Amino acid sequence: MGSGALALLLLLALVPGASPAGRKCELSGLWRNNQESLMEISAVRDDGGFQGKYLTRVSLAGGCPRVSPLKGAQHHLSEAAWPTFGFTVRWEKFSNATTVFVGQCFVDAGGKETLVTTWLLREAVGSLEDDWKATRVGRNVFTRKRSQKGKILQSWSSSCEDDPSPEP
Ligand code: BTN
Repeated sequence: MGSGALALLLLLALVPGASPAGRKCELSGLWRNNQESLMEISAVRDDGGFQGKYLTRVSLAGGCPRVSPLKGAQHHLSEAAWPTFGFTVRWEKFSNATTVFVGQCFVDAGGKETLVTTWLLREAVGSLEDDWKATRVGRNVFTRKRSQKGKILQSWSSSCEDDPSPEP
Protein backbone atom coordinates (compact mmCIF):
# COMPACT_ATOMS: atom_id res chain seq x y z
CA MET A 1 0.00 0.00 0.00
CA GLY A 2 1.38 3.43 -0.95
CA SER A 3 1.92 6.20 1.59
CA GLY A 4 -0.91 8.24 0.02
CA ALA A 5 -3.44 5.47 0.57
CA LEU A 6 -2.19 4.92 4.10
CA ALA A 7 -2.58 8.63 4.88
CA LEU A 8 -6.14 8.56 3.54
CA LEU A 9 -7.00 5.55 5.68
CA LEU A 10 -5.56 7.30 8.74
CA LEU A 11 -7.58 10.44 7.95
CA LEU A 12 -10.82 8.47 7.62
CA ALA A 13 -10.14 6.71 10.90
CA LEU A 14 -9.19 9.81 12.89
CA VAL A 15 -11.31 12.70 11.58
CA PRO A 16 -14.89 12.69 12.88
CA GLY A 17 -17.36 13.13 10.05
CA ALA A 18 -14.85 12.14 7.39
CA SER A 19 -16.87 9.02 6.73
CA PRO A 20 -20.48 7.97 7.41
CA ALA A 21 -19.16 5.88 10.28
CA GLY A 22 -17.35 8.85 11.80
CA ARG A 23 -20.33 10.66 13.33
CA LYS A 24 -23.74 9.37 14.15
CA CYS A 25 -26.74 11.51 13.53
CA GLU A 26 -29.42 11.97 16.17
CA LEU A 27 -32.91 12.87 14.98
CA SER A 28 -34.20 13.93 18.37
CA GLY A 29 -34.22 17.62 19.19
CA LEU A 30 -35.35 20.90 17.69
CA TRP A 31 -34.91 21.61 13.96
CA ARG A 32 -35.61 24.53 11.62
CA ASN A 33 -35.99 24.22 7.86
CA ASN A 34 -35.31 26.49 4.89
CA GLN A 35 -38.89 27.81 5.11
CA GLU A 36 -38.46 28.76 8.79
CA SER A 37 -40.72 25.94 9.95
CA LEU A 38 -39.88 24.37 13.32
CA MET A 39 -39.94 20.69 14.21
CA GLU A 40 -39.31 19.04 17.55
CA ILE A 41 -38.60 15.30 17.60
CA SER A 42 -38.73 13.25 20.78
CA ALA A 43 -36.30 10.47 21.67
CA VAL A 44 -36.12 7.78 19.00
CA ARG A 45 -37.30 4.43 20.37
CA ASP A 46 -35.31 1.19 20.12
CA ASP A 47 -37.53 0.05 17.25
CA GLY A 48 -36.77 3.29 15.34
CA GLY A 49 -40.16 4.90 15.96
CA PHE A 50 -40.46 8.53 17.01
CA GLN A 51 -43.02 11.25 17.59
CA GLY A 52 -42.88 15.00 17.57
CA LYS A 53 -44.47 18.35 16.80
CA TYR A 54 -44.30 20.52 13.71
CA LEU A 55 -45.00 24.20 13.32
CA THR A 56 -45.10 25.27 9.68
CA ARG A 57 -44.41 28.89 8.78
CA VAL A 58 -46.28 28.60 5.48
CA SER A 59 -49.68 27.13 4.66
CA LEU A 60 -51.84 26.66 1.59
CA ALA A 61 -54.60 28.94 2.81
CA GLY A 62 -52.23 31.39 4.47
CA GLY A 63 -54.10 31.23 7.76
CA CYS A 64 -52.70 30.76 11.22
CA PRO A 65 -50.86 27.42 11.36
CA ARG A 66 -51.08 25.38 14.59
CA VAL A 67 -48.54 23.10 16.17
CA SER A 68 -49.33 19.70 14.61
CA PRO A 69 -48.33 16.17 15.59
CA LEU A 70 -45.88 14.06 13.60
CA LYS A 71 -45.10 10.35 13.71
CA GLY A 72 -42.22 8.60 12.01
CA ALA A 73 -39.64 5.88 11.85
CA GLN A 74 -35.93 5.87 11.15
CA HIS A 75 -33.62 3.17 9.97
CA HIS A 76 -31.77 1.48 12.81
CA LEU A 77 -28.76 3.51 13.94
CA SER A 78 -26.65 0.42 14.38
CA GLU A 79 -26.89 -0.25 10.67
CA ALA A 80 -26.39 3.28 9.36
CA ALA A 81 -24.65 6.21 11.03
CA TRP A 82 -26.49 8.59 8.71
CA PRO A 83 -29.95 7.08 8.86
CA THR A 84 -32.81 7.39 6.46
CA PHE A 85 -36.19 8.20 7.97
CA GLY A 86 -39.77 9.10 7.19
CA PHE A 87 -42.55 10.87 9.06
CA THR A 88 -46.12 12.04 8.57
CA VAL A 89 -47.51 15.37 9.76
CA ARG A 90 -51.23 15.47 10.43
CA TRP A 91 -52.01 19.16 10.20
CA GLU A 92 -54.31 19.88 13.06
CA LYS A 93 -57.33 22.17 13.03
CA PHE A 94 -56.21 24.58 10.31
CA SER A 95 -55.97 22.17 7.36
CA ASN A 96 -57.35 18.91 5.97
CA ALA A 97 -54.05 18.13 4.24
CA THR A 98 -51.47 15.48 5.17
CA THR A 99 -47.74 15.69 4.46
CA VAL A 100 -45.21 12.86 4.41
CA PHE A 101 -41.48 13.53 4.52
CA VAL A 102 -38.66 11.10 3.67
CA GLY A 103 -35.03 11.94 4.10
CA GLN A 104 -31.58 11.28 5.41
CA CYS A 105 -29.48 12.82 8.14
CA PHE A 106 -25.92 13.94 7.28
CA VAL A 107 -23.10 15.20 9.48
CA ASP A 108 -20.32 17.35 8.02
CA ALA A 109 -16.68 17.39 9.07
CA GLY A 110 -17.43 20.10 11.64
CA GLY A 111 -20.21 18.07 13.22
CA LYS A 112 -23.07 20.09 11.71
CA GLU A 113 -26.16 17.93 11.18
CA THR A 114 -28.44 18.40 8.19
CA LEU A 115 -31.71 16.62 7.45
CA VAL A 116 -32.32 16.55 3.71
CA THR A 117 -35.95 15.70 2.98
CA THR A 118 -38.43 15.37 0.16
CA TRP A 119 -42.12 15.82 0.94
CA LEU A 120 -45.48 15.01 -0.59
CA LEU A 121 -48.43 17.09 0.50
CA ARG A 122 -51.91 15.73 -0.13
CA GLU A 123 -54.68 18.28 -0.06
CA ALA A 124 -58.30 17.17 0.28
CA VAL A 125 -60.34 17.79 -2.87
CA GLY A 126 -64.07 17.52 -3.33
CA SER A 127 -64.24 15.13 -6.28
CA LEU A 128 -62.36 12.42 -8.14
CA GLU A 129 -62.07 14.77 -11.10
CA ASP A 130 -59.94 17.11 -8.96
CA ASP A 131 -57.58 14.34 -7.85
CA TRP A 132 -54.96 15.36 -10.45
CA LYS A 133 -54.24 18.63 -8.62
CA ALA A 134 -54.33 17.35 -5.05
CA THR A 135 -50.67 16.42 -4.49
CA ARG A 136 -47.63 18.68 -4.29
CA VAL A 137 -43.98 17.68 -3.99
CA GLY A 138 -41.06 19.63 -2.60
CA ARG A 139 -37.80 19.59 -0.71
CA ASN A 140 -36.88 20.85 2.75
CA VAL A 141 -33.49 21.04 4.44
CA PHE A 142 -33.46 21.12 8.25
CA THR A 143 -30.62 22.18 10.55
CA ARG A 144 -30.50 21.77 14.30
CA LYS A 145 -31.74 24.69 16.33
CA ARG A 146 -30.27 24.92 19.80
CA SER A 147 -32.66 26.33 22.39
CA GLN A 148 -34.72 25.50 25.41
CA LYS A 149 -36.40 22.18 24.71
CA GLY A 150 -40.17 22.29 24.47
CA LYS A 151 -40.56 26.03 24.97
CA ILE A 152 -40.25 27.38 21.43
CA LEU A 153 -43.11 25.53 19.75
CA GLN A 154 -45.47 26.43 22.60
CA SER A 155 -44.70 30.14 22.45
CA TRP A 156 -44.90 30.37 18.65
CA SER A 157 -48.31 28.73 18.57
CA SER A 158 -49.77 30.94 21.27
CA SER A 159 -49.96 33.85 18.81
CA CYS A 160 -52.76 31.93 17.06
CA GLU A 161 -54.80 31.20 20.17
CA ASP A 162 -57.36 33.91 19.42
CA ASP A 163 -57.90 32.85 15.81
CA PRO A 164 -61.05 30.77 15.20
CA SER A 165 -60.42 27.26 13.81
CA PRO A 166 -61.64 26.72 10.21
CA GLU A 167 -64.58 24.48 9.44
CA PRO A 168 -63.48 20.80 9.22
C1 BTN B 1 -51.61 23.32 4.77
O1 BTN B 1 -51.27 24.44 4.42
O2 BTN B 1 -52.70 22.85 4.37
C2 BTN B 1 -50.77 22.50 5.70
C3 BTN B 1 -49.41 23.04 5.92
C4 BTN B 1 -48.43 22.59 4.86
C5 BTN B 1 -47.04 23.11 5.08
C6 BTN B 1 -46.06 22.61 4.04
S1 BTN B 1 -45.60 20.92 4.28
C7 BTN B 1 -44.25 21.07 3.18
C8 BTN B 1 -43.68 22.46 3.38
N1 BTN B 1 -42.67 22.46 4.41
C9 BTN B 1 -43.01 23.17 5.47
O3 BTN B 1 -42.32 23.32 6.49
N2 BTN B 1 -44.22 23.70 5.29
C10 BTN B 1 -44.75 23.37 3.98
